[in-house]
Amino acid sequence: PASDPDLVARALAAKEALGERVFVLGHHYQRDEVIQFADVTGDSFKLARDAAARPDAEFIVFCGVHFMAESADILTADTQRVILPDLAAGCSMADMARLAQVEDAWDALADAGVQDSVVPVTYMNSTADIKAFCGRNGGVVCTSSNADVALEWAFEQKAHLEDGAKVLFFPDQHLGRNTAVLKMGMSLEDCVVWDPHKANGGLTVDELRAARMILWKGHCSVHGRFSASVVDDLRAQHPGIHILVHPECTHEVVLKADLVGSTEFIIKTIEAAEPGTTWAIGTELNLVKRLADAHPDKNIVFLDRNVCYCSTMNRIDLPHLVWAMENLVAGNVVNQISVDPDTEREALVALQRMLDLPG
Ligand code: 13P
Ligand code: SF4
Repeated sequence: PASDPDLVARALAAKEALGERVFVLGHHYQRDEVIQFADVTGDSFKLARDAAARPDAEFIVFCGVHFMAESADILTADTQRVILPDLAAGCSMADMARLAQVEDAWDALADAGVQDSVVPVTYMNSTADIKAFCGRNGGVVCTSSNADVALEWAFEQKAHLEDGAKVLFFPDQHLGRNTAVLKMGMSLEDCVVWDPHKANGGLTVDELRAARMILWKGHCSVHGRFSASVVDDLRAQHPGIHILVHPECTHEVVLKADLVGSTEFIIKTIEAAEPGTTWAIGTELNLVKRLADAHPDKNIVFLDRNVCYCSTMNRIDLPHLVWAMENLVAGNVVNQISVDPDTEREALVALQRMLDLPG
């Protein structure tokens, strides 16, 4: 549905009243009614890089989810205040790796005698204290657009060891597996899954010693729902269809796809596609609908009608954005996301390692 004209007018007025004092960032999965007010849009890597682009802006209104707002707070000056229009905009995947659980896994790796060869790599979709854990333990953050480069970096850190390096990758097992197998040439046998709800992750010491990738048992509740069988159905219905998916999809889905990449990659691929071509896209529905609207000369369908919007991304709606900005105009700083200084310092180490990666 079209945005409520009264709310649109209020958002415009509040944004104009704030002027240069506000910088609005919008993730590609945001609703149209929200994304129209973003000064910058992007995937989580681009938004991490762009967060500091306006150092004079007093307020960064982050239209995305909690871990992204935390990262923006870590990457910007203390004088800049990051606002998340709805504090309930979390991420179920980020919630699947808690610091205490990760520390238990780290201790178990020490008990198995392998901790010295392990580099922790966390997906951006994780809480700030998990990023800080990586910062203080020689690890790095990655996003879906640089997971391969981050893994190469991680393996190089321990390349001198006789038995080679290992990576503990969290929270998304699918991004970890897809990157290891499809980009790094590893085999599925090189990967084991650490289940934080089982003793010793559900793994034997021998399994831990033999593994190269220890994948956390986490997943995205949106991308994890795309099934491989719909790809077969779509290919039967539309001969010549191109299947384009995000690497948070399961390995089975990614294996059946033609192209895989982050949201920024998905957008660029569709922009470059020939008119008249047919595409099924496996990522969040707001983005797929926007791409279909923006490219009427191409036939764009959603990969799987059984998959819904990301409910937490959708928490940020126009009423919440208006509410946040009108409060800022009135001098009330609402919903500020502020990472404590110790966590911020260590998390910045891991985020900076990512930003310094080549490419
Ligand atoms: P990217 O922004 O890296 O494409 O990740 C998608 C996602 O699920 C963000 O929550
Ligand atoms: Fe988290 Fe998945 Fe939603 Fe991204 S799409 S915010 S990973 S639940």
